[in-house]
Amino acid sequence: MSQAEEHDGTRRDFLYYATAGAGAVATGAAVWPMINQMNPSADVQALSSIRVDVSSIEVGTQITVKWRGKPVFVRRRSEGEIEAARSVDLGDLPDKDARNDNKAGDASDTNRTLDEAGEWLVMMGVCTHLGCVPLNDAGDYVGPDGIGGWFCPCHGSHYDTSGRIRRGPAPENLPVPVAVFEDETTVKLG
Ligand code: FES
Repeated sequence: MSQAEEHDGTRRDFLYYATAGAGAVATGAAVWPMINQMNPSADVQALSSIRVDVSSIEVGTQITVKWRGKPVFVRRRSEGEIEAARSVDLGDLPDKDARNDNKAGDASDTNRTLDEAGEWLVMMGVCTHLGCVPLNDAGDYVGPDGIGGWFCPCHGSHYDTSGRIRRGPAPENLPVPVAVFEDETTVKLG
């Protein structure tokens, strides 16, 4: 290769790299505003927490609220539901994790409820199989196997009165989101 050719090649390479470099800078410039827009503003962050008035929920019933685009069950359990949930042998549970964003531990009912007495159970109303909303229409659904709790009709997953998966294809217990009692009648989600 002559010196002139070599020089030419070097120059071409330089031009190539310079162009590629400019491209990368241009891409970076285009991506940054998008990322910047994705940083949640204070308004959006405020919306990511909601307060739920639970004062009108009767014992043995629940309400469903929408939070971050998903249904959340807020259930006020009856004595019977609490007893059923607490008498379960943990060895019978397919998923042994609490699945509770407030508290790590095993899937004991006491690790899933919002209060120690176990009256309040707050969890995502999204089946852990493929995302359908499990039913609890009567407030005391009892499936053909007598388990009770929630039933997902999409592919037949049964959750007990603690929202733990007992039968069917769903792999995990219904998740308990970040939630806290702000005062006696207000639950803050998020
Ligand atoms: S989505 Fe619930 S069982 Fe399949």
